Amino acid sequence: MTIMTILGSPRRYGNTAQVLEWIEEALRAEGHRIDRANIWEHQIGHCKESHQCRYPQSAACGTPDDAAKLFERVLDADRVLIASPVFSWGFPAPMKALLDRFYCLSGYHQDPDHAILLEDKPIGLMMTCGGDETENYEILSRVYRNMMAFFGARELGFWLIPRATTPEALGDDVRRSAAEFAARLAAD
Ligand SMILES: Cc1cc2nc3c(=O)[nH]c(=O)nc-3n(C[C@H](O)[C@H](O)[C@H](O)COP(=O)(O)O)c2cc1C
Repeated sequence: MTIMTILGSPRRYGNTAQVLEWIEEALRAEGHRIDRANIWEHQIGHCKESHQCRYPQSAACGTPDDAAKLFERVLDADRVLIASPVFSWGFPAPMKALLDRFYCLSGYHQDPDHAILLEDKPIGLMMTCGGDETENYEILSRVYRNMMAFFGARELGFWLIPRATTPEALGDDVRRSAAEFAARLAAD
């Protein structure tokens, strides 16, 4: 299957990129195709609540930037993995902007007949953070669950890697867990 991975870190070779590479490596070894997007290489504007994506519905919105092209790749992929560092108990600004813009692809509570373009799309989330699991896991797993429900997407799993310092210090345990998480992403 094709798995689109979206790297939300500004660091092309940082902690998140390292763990993501291990996940991608394990997926490729199982014969899956990876379609990687590095979010910081794309221009993603903010959602301005124009609602132009709603009437008529489309994956494109009124902001002319790279989001529509990324949406096409999201819709084409069998599965999606968002990989991001934790910034201020949430996502770095460009990643947050893209997730806000997923509004184009999700349902619309004021119009129950509105199609949900992300309906049942399997989406996973992997995040690295500098702090402890206790201070980050609860809030971020809740954000993940709520986002998936709002998008109408299917939860593939959330994996948080705490106490990340440098890519070199991540160690064999994280590498093994990356292979396990990859298997979970690709499972039926
Ligand atoms: C602006 C900024 C905000 C951060 N906010 C948090 C935070 O809220 N909680 C946390 O545990 N770590 C936080 N961190 C640490 C990063 O999440 C951590 O270093 C992460 O592994 C960086 O990933 P990267 O190397 O892929 O960019 C923050 C780091 C930065 C630069």
